[in-house]
Amino acid sequence: MPSGQPVFPRRVPDAYIAMRGLVVASLLILLVGGTDAFRICAFNAHRLTLTKILARCDIMVLQEVVDSSQNTVLFLLQKLQRSDKTQVLNFYQYNDTEDIFAREPFVAQFTLPSKILPSVVLVPLHTTPKDVEKELNALYDVFLDVSQRWQNENVILLGDFNADCASLAKKRLNSLLLRTKAGFHWVIPDGEDTTVRASTNCTYDRIVMHGQGCQKLLKAAATFDFPRRFQLTEEEALRVSDHYPVEVELNKAAQGIPPHCLSTLLLLSLSQLG
Ligand SMILES: *[C@@H]1O[C@H](CO)[C@@H](O)[C@H](O)[C@H]1NC(C)=O
Ligand SMILES: *[C@@H]1O[C@H](CO)[C@@H](O)[C@H](O)[C@H]1NC(C)=O
Repeated sequence: MPSGQPVFPRRVPDAYIAMRGLVVASLLILLVGGTDAFRICAFNAHRLTLTKILARCDIMVLQEVVDSSQNTVLFLLQKLQRSDKTQVLNFYQYNDTEDIFAREPFVAQFTLPSKILPSVVLVPLHTTPKDVEKELNALYDVFLDVSQRWQNENVILLGDFNADCASLAKKRLNSLLLRTKAGFHWVIPDGEDTTVRASTNCTYDRIVMHGQGCQKLLKAAATFDFPRRFQLTEEEALRVSDHYPVEVELNKAAQGIPPHCLSTLLLLSLSQLG
């Protein structure tokens, strides 16, 4: 790029990163102290400066990252160790023929170190605030599409759904297909604050689980209050994100499962690169 030319922040597409990370020494404590659970996270992360948030997770769905260098995600992958707990089986970007989604869900199927649940499908979504209801109802179609295509009913839908406050009234929320159809469990409950600002209290970020295997392995689901954990002021935290990550922990039940070969996974939805 010629010098003097401004560098515009650029939106990188939603990305999955599967990892077992050791970024800094302090992180060892988190991991050593951790359980045998498998953690799947979604984070509307403005900046990826606080890598120890990401390193908590075996699979992380990243959204809304602003990357002026365009290299952040690759740099991050170099810093984080590779995952030995999961592999990508397959993936595709949902064919949004009716152009409903602002960001078409980039769907992927991962292996899990579990006999009960050998694989799980992740369906991420970052809605646009003005179309939350429409997009969330269309997400049910994505669920049907992917569960049929891969013959897997164990699906986790997750991300910044904007499913609260001014973007979605409670009554509309309760009439969503993902609420009225049987078998969907909203494991981040209504009323859970997923926003960093003390002045806001909205459950924007969600994890919705479907399938018996998911139900059996579900151990815990929560937001991760990173400002409190890392003792950040609100201002410091807001430089990372105005959202908390949302996380679900699955019991591993890994007996008898050999470790998967080392792999680092980074899937970018190419159509969003431009
Ligand atoms: C998406 O669906 C449309 C209509 O069915 C089809 O014409 C198009 O080829 C599809 N695109 C992809 C990438 O599958
Ligand atoms: C957010 O509001 C809910 C009620 O909708 C309440 O139960 C919860 O304690 C509030 N959280 C915070 C952090 O204020």
